[in-house]
Amino acid sequence: MCGITGYIGPKKASEIILASLKRVEYRGYDSAGIAVSNSKIEIMKDAGKIADIEKKLDFSKLEGNMGIGHTRWATHGTVNTQNAHPHTDCTGKIVLVHNGIIENFAELKEELEEKGHKFSSETDTEMMAHLLEEEERKQPDFMRAFLAAVKRVEGSYSFVAMRQGDGRIYAARKSCPLVMGVGKGEMFFASDIPAVLPYTRDFVFLEEGEAASISASDYALYEVKGGKEKEKRKPTHVDWTPQMAQKEGHAHFMIKEIFEQQSTIRQSLAADVGEGVKLLKKAKFITTVACGTSYYAGLLFKEMLRQAGRRSDCVLGSEYLSGIYERDTIVVAVSQSGETADTLNAVRYAKEHGASVLGITNVVGSSLSREADACIYIGAGPEIAVVATKSFTSQLVVLYKLALTLAKKKDMVERMKDLSAIAEIVLSKNEEIRALAEKLAAKKDFFFIGRGLSFPVALEGALKLKEITYLHAEAYAAGELKHGPLSLLESGIPIIAIAPSDASTPKLVSNIKECKARNASVFAVSDSDAVLREAELKFVMPQVDAVFAPIIYVIPLQLLAYHMAVKLGKDPDKPRNLAKSVTVE
Ligand code: F6R
Repeated sequence: MCGITGYIGPKKASEIILASLKRVEYRGYDSAGIAVSNSKIEIMKDAGKIADIEKKLDFSKLEGNMGIGHTRWATHGTVNTQNAHPHTDCTGKIVLVHNGIIENFAELKEELEEKGHKFSSETDTEMMAHLLEEEERKQPDFMRAFLAAVKRVEGSYSFVAMRQGDGRIYAARKSCPLVMGVGKGEMFFASDIPAVLPYTRDFVFLEEGEAASISASDYALYEVKGGKEKEKRKPTHVDWTPQMAQKEGHAHFMIKEIFEQQSTIRQSLAADVGEGVKLLKKAKFITTVACGTSYYAGLLFKEMLRQAGRRSDCVLGSEYLSGIYERDTIVVAVSQSGETADTLNAVRYAKEHGASVLGITNVVGSSLSREADACIYIGAGPEIAVVATKSFTSQLVVLYKLALTLAKKKDMVERMKDLSAIAEIVLSKNEEIRALAEKLAAKKDFFFIGRGLSFPVALEGALKLKEITYLHAEAYAAGELKHGPLSLLESGIPIIAIAPSDASTPKLVSNIKECKARNASVFAVSDSDAVLREAELKFVMPQVDAVFAPIIYVIPLQLLAYHMAVKLGKDPDKPRNLAKSVTVE
């Protein structure tokens, strides 16, 4: 999940790398470092967020036109300066950054220690620097040594390495994202497109098990397994702009991205679902696999498919390998990043068992987009805040469009055109939510409830709140309260009821009354008088078709979580222990 960048060209590498690292800091932010190669290798690194490290270290002192950088999300070893990347070999001439987990690290480290290598960190990454040193002794062509070392590694990785006195940067990837940016007289490596968007919009997406080397004006691709050089691929031009990855006057990316939904909901409705419809038509059974917020989008897709008379389920990516598989299943994999390891493993498992896979992702060139048989892009633009907001509503728009087109309900797809205007009405009441958030910020436990299509929305509301405020939040199907959770209710505990008017409203009102009888304090997000009448705190929602309510009702919950996090002094863009795109299992 770490952020990686590499630069080679005419400019000062440390400046480009520092700016690029700031743009991928959402991938990991417990430490950061930069190495440049001039007449020697020079490294600066420390624990902490980049803004704090910059107060202690002056990266501009690193002179040179080629370099690599890293922001860390710790897997092996605690967060400290020694464990921060880049890492070097015994000679200090080879330097390396890494994202992923080296599974055979302990054996390789033992072997290298026996050969006399001295380690100065607890990381699996440092082992790779020593392995490169060892391989280089056998074959002085560094690309060959690099390929030989990478070949010995089991696990997931994207590596970017340099060697002193060498005019190239080397990289390889397996199960972790890595792109090569192709500029004019300059070249880049990055774990994510936004890292280098201000410099180039042309990318070569490294494939699974592929290695590459770049000079300022050229690149070469290799197959790690056989070591053969491959044919060059034409770079893909992406239409994201650098502005899309900026805060543009907002205090945080999260609030910017919440507000963008008034346009992203409309944009995503333009997604071409044709290939997906073609594929799903053939399916006897449709299994959606996804994780986290994308899983909640998947739960709603499952319901939409069932309402359209299709046999369907939705499984967490990490649970799919337990053999839940039917013949003639089409797997729909939903992932904002397209790089989530648990989801990709489910995709690979499904393919090995002969199932076709439809990918739904936001990232052009992502692993999911390349491994799926067909792919639909949700078109939400770069999502920088670690927590998902606009990507969730865009996923829903695309999944609804897909399910409704499959069910030949064109009129309903047409009605979705009203949704962005309704989202705008909700967003215009941001201040009202902020005031409610101030009232709720002193509470410690939260229960989100909803029925039917509102249950996944309650799950998402609770997830958003716990992710960025670190407060305890649970979601329940409202009817389940009486089967256990009611015992948790105490005076004043907030119950957040997601309650669009629909056939279940009378039952939900009864559930609310059950909570009130235990002195819980109900906050209703609703357009129903019957519900609002029962609530102590309320947010009155505009009218929306019950079936589309999830796309709109999640917005006040995103705003609530955001404002509470800000009130509590937490950074909503970089929640502790989390990272965007979870590339480890
Ligand atoms: C929640 C969140 C995560 C992701 C999950 C899957 O705010 O961001 O729960 O939804 O890690 O990520 P993708 O969609 O990239 O596969």
